[in-house]
Amino acid sequence: MRRKDFLKLGALFGGGVFSGASFGGTGKKRVSEASISDTISNAGLEGSMFDYADAPIEKVKVAMVGLGNRGSTLTEMLSWLVKNGHAEIVSICDVQPAFLDRAEARIAKFQSAVPRRIDGSSDENEWKKACNSEEADLVIIATPWRWHAPMAMYAMEQGLHVATEVPIAYTIDQNLELLKTAERTKRHCIMLENCCYNGEELFVLNMVKEGAFGELTHAECAYIHDLRQLLIDENYYHNRWRLQHHLERDGNLYTTHGLGPVCMYMDILRGDNLSHLVSMSSNEAALSKALRESDDTYLNSIADNVKCGDVNTTLIKTEQGKSIMLQFDVHTGRPYNRLNKLCGSGATHYGYPSRLYKDHGPTWDWHRWQDEAGYKEAQEQFAHPMWRKLQAQISENEQGHGGMDFVMIYRLIRALNQGVSLDLNVYDGVLWSLVGALSEESVARGNEKVIIPDITNGAWKTPRVHPVFREF
Ligand SMILES: NC(=O)c1ccc[n+]([C@@H]2O[C@H](COP(=O)([O-])OP(=O)(O)OC[C@H]3O[C@@H](n4cnc5c(N)ncnc54)[C@H](O)[C@@H]3O)[C@@H](O)[C@H]2O)c1
Repeated sequence: MRRKDFLKLGALFGGGVFSGASFGGTGKKRVSEASISDTISNAGLEGSMFDYADAPIEKVKVAMVGLGNRGSTLTEMLSWLVKNGHAEIVSICDVQPAFLDRAEARIAKFQSAVPRRIDGSSDENEWKKACNSEEADLVIIATPWRWHAPMAMYAMEQGLHVATEVPIAYTIDQNLELLKTAERTKRHCIMLENCCYNGEELFVLNMVKEGAFGELTHAECAYIHDLRQLLIDENYYHNRWRLQHHLERDGNLYTTHGLGPVCMYMDILRGDNLSHLVSMSSNEAALSKALRESDDTYLNSIADNVKCGDVNTTLIKTEQGKSIMLQFDVHTGRPYNRLNKLCGSGATHYGYPSRLYKDHGPTWDWHRWQDEAGYKEAQEQFAHPMWRKLQAQISENEQGHGGMDFVMIYRLIRALNQGVSLDLNVYDGVLWSLVGALSEESVARGNEKVIIPDITNGAWKTPRVHPVFREF
């Protein structure tokens, strides 16, 4: 029996299937619906990190852990903040000395103080040295997924605030433990969901806030990005860590770029909440084909082991009745797309490219996207104040995904400088990541409905204006 078929059989028979264990002990156990909800309801979560503010930090001392593709960009995004005295990079850590060299050279261009070099090449746990509250206030984690939650929890225990790359965690247990740790230690733990800070998403969000969409009903969002070349390249992801997830898991493995902005549009955790989901994966074809056709004999040998279906579709219902269609596909050859579709009684938006439809009521003759002039007028009227304010700095930092990476890091550091709550709290990051873990549960149980438990102890019921509208 092929390994792929064996895993499928295991999933069919439900309980006791562990996956993921071979890449770092973050094994996942299929649990019953009741036990997911019970575990979370009985966990004693307080909701106490909602709107949590800590003492101001005049200059935020940053430890950077993981200096690969993403860690390099995030380091660059700090340069304006360092040059303006708002932050300093005090240590850098990676398990690849060449990446430490590269980071040192980059940082030297904008910071005179040389950061401490923590070389994890002979011990992958050296990163613990970066979690030293005498030296750093904040640790930024841009490592492979399996490290995010353990590093974040350890750093909070040591007294540091944490900003981690997406997803914040990918098992139900790790998501829960992160929440408990943040509530107990009273440390910020933010997931760096940069797409929440993109110009288009902020424009749509501002339109929602100003009432242009009327009553929201439905959204469609996604992470559609042909990653096959990056997944199989020997050097792109360290030890091909990301490919391994596709061999061992099936569901939506990367929920947050699509779901984060939609949750902001829909006031999720600020008056509404995600209620339940059903998730379905297609068969797998495109990644295994790439593996089979590669020149690399190792890749040929694992071609039959891909577990993750090419296209995962998850349907989510909110407590207030809205619906969300969330997709994940990093196997199929097609252009990048996050969909960014939003429907309301007053307007509709589709992304890629951004298009608007302003509702004209029942009519025989409309049914067309707004023309260029009308779209531009809306853009001028509804550009998000934050995006307007940071225009000059955004133009300087366009290499960070068109500016959104800079805006995200700016907002994080400036909030810490001023001792105000962060734009996104630990519940946001965990909820958007938890949907990934729950999608895997639904897929494994033949697309059954899975309840999305309340992780805020009821705090979500209080309507709040989203913190990204605060000016600073
Ligand atoms: N938000 C975005 O737009 C975006 C874009 C790309 C990647 N990401 C996220 O960033 C993270 C990193 O992805 P990447 O593309 O940079 O991968 P990568 O493999 O290029 O980088 C990971 C780095 O972590 C280092 N590392 C591994 N184990 C370590 C350890 N124990 N201690 C210290 N360093 C360790 C590796 O050597 C490598 O340099 C992932 O979580 C990914 O999902 C986010």
